[in-house]
Amino acid sequence: MFSPEGPTLRELAVQALSSVERGYDLLAPKFDHTPYRTPDRVLDAVASALEPMGPFGTGLDLCCGTGAGVGVLGRVCGERVTGVDFSAGMLGVARKRSVPEGPEVSWVRADARALPFGPVFDLVVSFGAFGHFLPRELPGLFTQVRSVLRPGGCFAFPVGAPPRPGSRAYWTLLGFDTAMRVRNALWKPPFVMYYRTFRLGDVGRELARTGFRVDLHALPGFGLRPDGSPRARLVVARRLP
Ligand SMILES: C[S@@+](CC[C@H](N)C(=O)[O-])C[C@H]1O[C@@H](n2cnc3c(N)ncnc32)[C@H](O)[C@@H]1O
Repeated sequence: MFSPEGPTLRELAVQALSSVERGYDLLAPKFDHTPYRTPDRVLDAVASALEPMGPFGTGLDLCCGTGAGVGVLGRVCGERVTGVDFSAGMLGVARKRSVPEGPEVSWVRADARALPFGPVFDLVVSFGAFGHFLPRELPGLFTQVRSVLRPGGCFAFPVGAPPRPGSRAYWTLLGFDTAMRVRNALWKPPFVMYYRTFRLGDVGRELARTGFRVDLHALPGFGLRPDGSPRARLVVARRLP
């Protein structure tokens, strides 16, 4: 799972005993060599799905980490692109990244639950970060995203289908979430990261309640499950006036 340049088991253990923010500060120098960075294959699929909906003007990568999603925004946004994250360490790595030709990129340190922007974005994307929010935080998070979008602007993010109950992936994710619950019951500060709490049905309902119209787009490169449903989808939530 981890390349030789990735973190050691000891480093991962220290990070997992920290807060989310501090954990990512520590992980930042090696983050791009971990499986936690969104793979290029996912980023490409999302950019290809967004292209026909654009072009967009300004874009925001929410919980940008080292900047994986900023390349997607560079492909579909013609004006300014911003990455926001609360980890100074992750933003430090992102700032050193060489940015391909395209719109101007800026990096802002802020908590996604209190975004320091007005309604100035046409597109907000987010990759691999929703597990860091408890279900009860989602209404507030979606309200924040809505508040930084222009009317008609889009909030887009990929979602994978949940693994089949009883499959190896199912037990792996269940085991991870259970270990996290035990860790958080016994140790402070908490490290909130759960794989199984961000469920498409609940998320769609919550987005609709917050004032979005939600459309789902299959990401064809990831194939279909045995029941014919897509393995991966792009959620596109459009801000209603
Ligand atoms: C798994 S990483 C994903 C990074 C990047 N989006 C990617 O796909 O490679 C999750 C990121 O979310 C950030 N994050 C978690 N909770 C946050 C919050 N409340 N506000 C801002 N950033 C947050 C972390 O600092 C970390 O950089």
